[in-house]
Amino acid sequence: MSSWGNAVKISIFGESHGKAIGVVIDGLPAGEPISMEEVCIQMARRAPGRDKAATPRLEKDFPEILSGMMNDTTTGAPLCAVIQNTNTRSQDYGNLLCSPRPAHADYTGSIRYSGFNDIRGGGHFSGRLTAPLVFAGAVCRQILERRGIKIAAHIASVGSIEDERFNSVSIPDDLLDRLSGAVFGLIDQSREESMRDLIEQCRLSQDSIGGTIECAVVGFPAGAGSPMFDGIENRIASIVFGIPAVKGIEFGSGFAGASLRGSQNNDAFYYDGDTVRTRTNNHGGILGGISSGMPIIFRVAVKPTPSISRVQQTVSLADKTNTTLEIKGRHDPCIAVRAVPVIEAAAAVAAVNILAEVNKL
Ligand SMILES: Cc1cc2nc3c(=O)[nH]c(=O)nc-3n(C[C@H](O)[C@H](O)[C@H](O)COP(=O)(O)O)c2cc1C
Repeated sequence: MSSWGNAVKISIFGESHGKAIGVVIDGLPAGEPISMEEVCIQMARRAPGRDKAATPRLEKDFPEILSGMMNDTTTGAPLCAVIQNTNTRSQDYGNLLCSPRPAHADYTGSIRYSGFNDIRGGGHFSGRLTAPLVFAGAVCRQILERRGIKIAAHIASVGSIEDERFNSVSIPDDLLDRLSGAVFGLIDQSREESMRDLIEQCRLSQDSIGGTIECAVVGFPAGAGSPMFDGIENRIASIVFGIPAVKGIEFGSGFAGASLRGSQNNDAFYYDGDTVRTRTNNHGGILGGISSGMPIIFRVAVKPTPSISRVQQTVSLADKTNTTLEIKGRHDPCIAVRAVPVIEAAAAVAAVNILAEVNKL
């Protein structure tokens, strides 16, 4: 379903070309001041039409608060925000129910919902549904920052062009602050031009490209999370897989750790004053599903945008024949760029929920 969380729960509703999309956040602590200016900064990072590496669709993405806030402060009641859909061109999606887009949810969605699903703009499967998630994340991020927890992500790669990785032991505040406001967030900004060139080449050749995103949660206290099925990895993975086009996740040394020896992968403990820290952070801040107090680090794989404008092979569900499809409309050439603030938002909602679950919020 489109609800997530236990102690703090989000429910995302709407369809891309319906009247509006939005979110209800339940379980937030009362009395938390929320800057709507900060919320809008985060929403603008995700919104299309502002960066040339993204789709030119201009979506306003202005959240209207229906409940749960008074005088810019949370009341403790469910917080409901609605975002109107204004920039829709439904005619671009006319034939997709009959001829599903390869790699999109048109086919599986129509089987699951017996053809009753709203296909326009991808309906409830659209990347647009990440706008309410970014709203929820922007609220949660402010609650976390007040408790000394910062979250930032960057484009770790586009195709085979890579950014530097986070120093997983110590990430400077100014880097976290820069990335958490960036539209094309990179640690090494000198790689921006080559990444943009590659994205542009893909767009010009009617194609798209995948990428990876690395995210860090810094200042998260030790001792949150629960074993087996309720660990931090479980929580983060389940919310992150709610983001369309996410196809993989790894924590700490992740898949690379599988080719290491224990002597290389183990992180030595030491006392830093009264605080236990580790010299390296291959464990990505999580041991046994529970936070160690070191930065929580994870990386996410984002697939290339399904909707490319080349002629592609598909089927006609109406005629039960093979056919071809030429997709019209305005699509992102590289989802990984716009998904960076979405990943941060998912991490923020997960972090608030995990802390609330163990009464540490
Ligand atoms: C921020 C964002 C923007 C997206 N934009 C597009 C797009 O313009 N065109 C498209 O075909 N898919 C886009 N997607 C991806 C599809 O929604 C997604 O691939 C589809 O729902 C199938 O789901 P799956 O890839 O998770 O299996 C976007 C995803 C995100 C997170």
